[in-house]
Amino acid sequence: MKVILLNGSPRGKKCTYTALEVIANRLNAQGIETEIIDIGAKPVAGCIGCASCVNTGKCFVDDGVNEFVAKMREADGLIVGSPVHYAGASGHVTSFLDRAFYSGSSAMQGKPGAVIVSCRRGGASAAFDQLNKYFTISNMPIVSSNYWNQVHGNTPEEVLKDEEGIQTMEILADNMAWLLKCIKAGKDAGINLPERSPKIRTNFIR
Ligand SMILES: Cc1cc2nc3c(=O)[nH]c(=O)nc-3n(C[C@H](O)[C@H](O)[C@H](O)COP(=O)(O)O)c2cc1C
Repeated sequence: MKVILLNGSPRGKKCTYTALEVIANRLNAQGIETEIIDIGAKPVAGCIGCASCVNTGKCFVDDGVNEFVAKMREADGLIVGSPVHYAGASGHVTSFLDRAFYSGSSAMQGKPGAVIVSCRRGGASAAFDQLNKYFTISNMPIVSSNYWNQVHGNTPEEVLKDEEGIQTMEILADNMAWLLKCIKAGKDAGINLPERSPKIRTNFIR
């Protein structure tokens, strides 16, 4: 079993990464493989709504989104981490996930997902709510912890001092490992994802 952890901080191995690493280590200790993918500092294109992905199954912009979706097809779970930027998710992770889910949500369907956010002081729950919406439109079970998944700090050292935040990450990892094992046990017993009827799309036009 494998979990992909997407680090949505353009600053690389800093606060968000530190929290993701705590989760990855805890998952590894329970026999679950992990891969942390850094979104990087290069510009990430936003979705232009061209819908070319509807025909090709891929985004026409080649900046890591398609590789991420390909990895998600093989993975069993997803954890998205983001720094809080102006009480929302980072622009990088928003652009990245808009395109990943628009072009490749089939890779994520039915797989447990969790969001974690890192902030200095405020806006964590708004960013957390924002990012969970990618999962709740994609038939993904949400994994939670004993608090909203947030750590506080401006440096990795400060994040590690946030005892409650670190415990929230550890419990989140335990809950993710537990759910993945339940899903596998279910599959082994013949319980698969429900059959889906074709999506009904309506617009509200007077
Ligand atoms: C553009 C920008 C906006 C930010 N906005 C907020 C904010 O609204 N609330 C907050 O508490 N911290 C804010 N911060 C601080 C970061 O969220 C915080 O330092 C975070 O832990 C950094 O994570 P990282 O090291 O993984 O990038 C902001 C930082 C930047 C660069």
